[in-house]
Amino acid sequence: MPAAPAHSTLDIQKIRTQFPALQQTVHGKPLIYLDNAATTQKPQAVLDALTHYYQYDNANVHRGVHTLAERATFALEATRRSVQQFIRATDTAEIIFTSGTTASINLVAATYGQTQVQAGDEIIISHMEHHANIVPWQMLCQAKRAVLKVIPINKKGRLMLSTLANLLTSKTKIVAIGYVSNVLGTINPLKEIIQQAHTQGAIVVVDGAQAVPHLPIDVQELDCDFLAFSAHKAYGPTGVGVLYGKKALLEDMPPYQGGGEMTQQVTLSHTTYNDLPYRFEAGTPNIAGIIAWQEALNFIKQVGYKTLMAHENKLLNYAADLLSSLKKIRIIGTAPNKIGVLSFVVEGMHHLDVGMLLDANGIAVRTGHGCAQPLIDLLKIEGIVRASFAIYNTKEEVEQFVTEVTRIVQKKA
Ligand code: ALA
Repeated sequence: MPAAPAHSTLDIQKIRTQFPALQQTVHGKPLIYLDNAATTQKPQAVLDALTHYYQYDNANVHRGVHTLAERATFALEATRRSVQQFIRATDTAEIIFTSGTTASINLVAATYGQTQVQAGDEIIISHMEHHANIVPWQMLCQAKRAVLKVIPINKKGRLMLSTLANLLTSKTKIVAIGYVSNVLGTINPLKEIIQQAHTQGAIVVVDGAQAVPHLPIDVQELDCDFLAFSAHKAYGPTGVGVLYGKKALLEDMPPYQGGGEMTQQVTLSHTTYNDLPYRFEAGTPNIAGIIAWQEALNFIKQVGYKTLMAHENKLLNYAADLLSSLKKIRIIGTAPNKIGVLSFVVEGMHHLDVGMLLDANGIAVRTGHGCAQPLIDLLKIEGIVRASFAIYNTKEEVEQFVTEVTRIVQKKA
């Protein structure tokens, strides 16, 4: 049996006390929550911030001179500054609040894409993308009669990067790439991709949904043109996300949705638009969610990415070692550079059955195609069972999870 990871300085139990959802039982068993790549649980500070806003500061933002409106606006803009610093953007004007990663990618496709992509142009994605980073580009290609090209992956679940040089041409306008695969856990070599794309004059849109919960991101160092991510996968509320864009690109983009907040002056015949970032923030945003997100960012900063990555890697390696020793288990995604995502299939068993049997023991995992059907089809499987780890998971939980998977496999045999 592989050695269990030791937690010398990290007090996981103390961290766990901050997460009320983890304190419950499910079907009479203590909850073991291993569906973190779908959404993480939220610390008490995030829950308190949500309640505090509705209890004391509930007012619309950027629209009032009264005290509550000023408090709400101040808190919302404070989160914008925090996000800017968190990803090292140069300007708060580059931080556009959206409802999440999907909305952010659709925004780029519907604005930058609509104006910059013409018939015969090319957009490159990879074979491991989430549907949110496939479908908006397919829709754009259909509308514009552009061509969607795909970077292939190898058996381990790594991009075959040597193909990129051939895929990139003078017609490539956009490379849209996930930093981390939600099914394979693979961390893609983003810097290299961005450099190559830029050499050909293409811009790069990064789906950072699965990266932000695990890796520090420096948009200036990466030199990505757009970055989309959500709060809820990194201890924050649902329904909130960001589109980061380089200011020069955002300045040139047409507006996305029309409505309040995104305007400067409206007459019945003509409208002039607001400055960045408000030009892309039509309507009332998820004010409570944005304000409470600040607490999730604080939580990550307090723990620190270094600690977070080290802990999740230990859990991943421990779980992968234990699971791979079981007959009938095939691990999906074995790239050397991975985050804490462990997908697998049980030979001869449907993923939904495995998921339900685990749930009966209080263990929450993701089952299905993981919103990455092209990848699942390529792997010639019906779906995966996926355990994904967060800072609050423990080695005991990993052991319990593996014990239950072992029982399931043995019952089947
Ligand atoms: N995209 C989310 C996942 O990977 C929902 O589960």
